[in-house]
Amino acid sequence: MQTLWDHRFAQRTQRMSSSAIRELLKFAENPDVISFAGGMPAPDVFPIEQFKEACLRVLDNNGPASLQYGSTDGYTPLREMIARHSARYGISVNSDNILITSGSQQALDLLGKIFINRGDRILVESPTYIGALQAWNAYGAEFVPVPLDEHGMVTSQLEDRLRAGPKFIYVLPNFQNPTGATLAYDRRLKLIELADRYGVPIIEDDPYGQLRFEGENLPAIEVLDSQTRAQNECYSGNVIYLSTFSKTLAPGIRLAWVVAPPEVIRKLIQAKQGADLHTSTFNQIVAFEVAHGGFLDEHVKLIRKVYKERRDVMMDSLSEHMPEDTKWTHPKGGLFLWVTLPASLDTQDLFEDAVAEKVAFVPGTSFFAEGGGHNTMRLNFSNACPEKINEGIARLSSVVKKHLAKQH
Ligand SMILES: Cc1ncc(COP(=O)(O)O)c(C=O)c1O
Repeated sequence: MQTLWDHRFAQRTQRMSSSAIRELLKFAENPDVISFAGGMPAPDVFPIEQFKEACLRVLDNNGPASLQYGSTDGYTPLREMIARHSARYGISVNSDNILITSGSQQALDLLGKIFINRGDRILVESPTYIGALQAWNAYGAEFVPVPLDEHGMVTSQLEDRLRAGPKFIYVLPNFQNPTGATLAYDRRLKLIELADRYGVPIIEDDPYGQLRFEGENLPAIEVLDSQTRAQNECYSGNVIYLSTFSKTLAPGIRLAWVVAPPEVIRKLIQAKQGADLHTSTFNQIVAFEVAHGGFLDEHVKLIRKVYKERRDVMMDSLSEHMPEDTKWTHPKGGLFLWVTLPASLDTQDLFEDAVAEKVAFVPGTSFFAEGGGHNTMRLNFSNACPEKINEGIARLSSVVKKHLAKQH
């Protein structure tokens, strides 16, 4: 419906739309609905006691400073903790390389703000994280999809697309959202080599890297990139790395970080000043209090255990209930798996019936910059408890079977 305001909005708003997922989550809010739709961590593992104690400690010991404005780059002890953490994984960074953001979603938006001119091409995996498409659409990005398989971005198909001069490559290396795929080691090396050769930077978005429940950890693309260069105290390579506390502590605190060359950090700081001056001082100090001293490492172990169990339950349940010709990925970590139904089905058509049967998922089409994936869906396995997962997959499978039966 047209309103008086429509012609007043800036042109860039024409490419803005509500995230399909947020819209779908509205259906899933009904407590009777078993939702595999959101990217929500398990609420039962939130470290509530630790947050409660840390809040009191911070207010007792550091009250005025924690409630005061802070610097745009972020709380120094938190940035130093992240730098030490990065050093453990073999990359030398110092606090000039680090910016704290209000969630990785803000980092994506700020990157769009500093890099994207209208019409710039961005290479994205197909499918990819919907929140990045949403953020960069507003800056007039043109997305160039690169195929993805169970080993992540198909780097053998990158070179043609790099010749067209994209602004950057956006890659989700670990337990990708939405498919759960992980970028293979040799592809990581190929990606770095090609990006370097064509002078195109890489944005590595890694919210799930710490949540591996099987197989060996693979080095971050930024780490591999830094190994190809002279080692300085300060990282100055070709990769901009993003990660977040959303999946390891709690998404509600809206805390994440960027690791990048200092000149990129300086430009992001200018962009962030215009957005929110800085990320919540109180949340940063409290999160630091909770995370440092080894708690976070221990807590992540618990999360891995809980999520592995839930993934296994979901995969077993899919095997038990789904019709033949249905396939799904086997993620080695993270929060999601990706289901491909028989080609005759459309998961958008299925969605309404699924919600009527009180189960929700995200239709796969939402994650494709250029359309496609009509018979795919993303399922989240972290949020619901094992009993609900079993029940939800049984309901979902019966909806799928009914739709198949209608076609015969
Ligand atoms: C790939 C990816 N990037 C970024 C985000 C946003 O994370 P944050 O909660 O830190 O804003 C998510 C959240 O699900 C994600 O999956």
